[in-house]
Amino acid sequence: MSKSQAYQKCINPNCGAEFECTEAFFKCPKCGDLLDINYNWDKINPPKKMSDFAKRWSTRNNRLDFSGVWRFRELLNFCDDNFKVSLGEGQTLLQQNDMLAEFIGMKKGRLHLQYEGLNPSGSFKDNGMTAAFSHAKMINAKSCACASTGNTSAAVALYAAHCGMKCTVFIGSGRIAFGKLSQAMDYGAKTIQILGDFDDCMKQVQAVCTELGLYLLNSLNPFRLEGQKTIMYRIIEGLNWNVPDWIVVPGGNLGNSSAFGKAFAELKQLGLINKIPRLAIINASGADTLTELVNKRGLKWNGGKVDEKIYTDFYAELAAKNFSPHTCASAIEISRPVNLKKCLRAIDVCNGVVRAVPDSAITDAKALIGKFGLGCEPASAATIAGLEVLLAEKIIAPDQTVACVLTGHCLKDANVTVNYHKDKAGRFSNPPVECANDLKQIIKLMNQN
Ligand code: F0G
Repeated sequence: MSKSQAYQKCINPNCGAEFECTEAFFKCPKCGDLLDINYNWDKINPPKKMSDFAKRWSTRNNRLDFSGVWRFRELLNFCDDNFKVSLGEGQTLLQQNDMLAEFIGMKKGRLHLQYEGLNPSGSFKDNGMTAAFSHAKMINAKSCACASTGNTSAAVALYAAHCGMKCTVFIGSGRIAFGKLSQAMDYGAKTIQILGDFDDCMKQVQAVCTELGLYLLNSLNPFRLEGQKTIMYRIIEGLNWNVPDWIVVPGGNLGNSSAFGKAFAELKQLGLINKIPRLAIINASGADTLTELVNKRGLKWNGGKVDEKIYTDFYAELAAKNFSPHTCASAIEISRPVNLKKCLRAIDVCNGVVRAVPDSAITDAKALIGKFGLGCEPASAATIAGLEVLLAEKIIAPDQTVACVLTGHCLKDANVTVNYHKDKAGRFSNPPVECANDLKQIIKLMNQN
């Protein structure tokens, strides 16, 4: 076993190959499976209790203590401080939302919204990018790339610009919200629109990175997921260092769910928490691979010995049908999630459940989060739509503590929002009213209900 503080390890128990963190792979070079970052905790000396991290609030003028990722740095200790990149990510809020709780039938004080839209590029991706770009700097990478449904490209473009790295992003033509596309262009990334969907882009970018030796920033990159663990640390922090009963997260490429499961497994191993919350992963019905595989075809982690035939058969069926996923939540419009196996592990660790919700439920939930909370983009609202399903099924009880991860900012996809309200498309549509440029008529309109 590696003697370093941190090392890379293949998650496949039949392989288990190990590599130092000074190398960059996006797949195990021995067997092609996913890689994890593992730690020799005895060399790291993590705090004895989670609340010890609170001492860093008083030293916020240190850039690493200011970062909502790096103030937990002992829990993702894979590189020296001088390589660590930060744009002030992770200054995000856990909002207790009693109005929304009451509206969906939960007890006061039990529903919390973790608004990751407050990050510098407007989504949770910055948590992962600060970690992966630190690794990129550590190994002196000069040029990077990613495939994206939008937020990854925005975050990669921003951090690459900050690090002075060349950056290319691959997006499915017509499948990206304008807010996100505008960011990639504005931050100076070379933006390549592939005539295909996210899964096509994901395949191409891996080939491009292999051929041209570029640094890959999709969540196949294990360092990215280390940064995304900190979303869970901040939820615990927001609950005054308590663990919730449930975490609810949208599922796309399944990086977040994978990272959250790893975070809790490590915290439990270190004795920093005494219980592991349950995890609910919510797909959009138009991109429900995980729901299909787990709930209908019985796919399981099985100690790492995943029955690969179950998902390869399913993917072959998709290919035979020429299937391409479709949902208004374009961020999670993915049918071949690259972190599937790690997500199965997270479901195992967290006694997780998976559900799919239709677009109409997503846009209604989004309007409720806007009306009662901080707003979010469509994919993020799948959490509340999923929570409503799980409350109705009595899997989640109204008095349990629930934290929903609102992954992206409400301005990311203004088109979906405007169309929902303007076209009176849902239960909570709030259309604008046109009026003549005339005071009398304006007053008349104002006096109506
Ligand atoms: N929510 C938002 C707003 C996202 O942008 C994404 C993924 C997800 C949820 C799903 O997260 O992949 O960890 O399961 N967006 C990626 C992208 C795929 O390219 O921006 P996941």
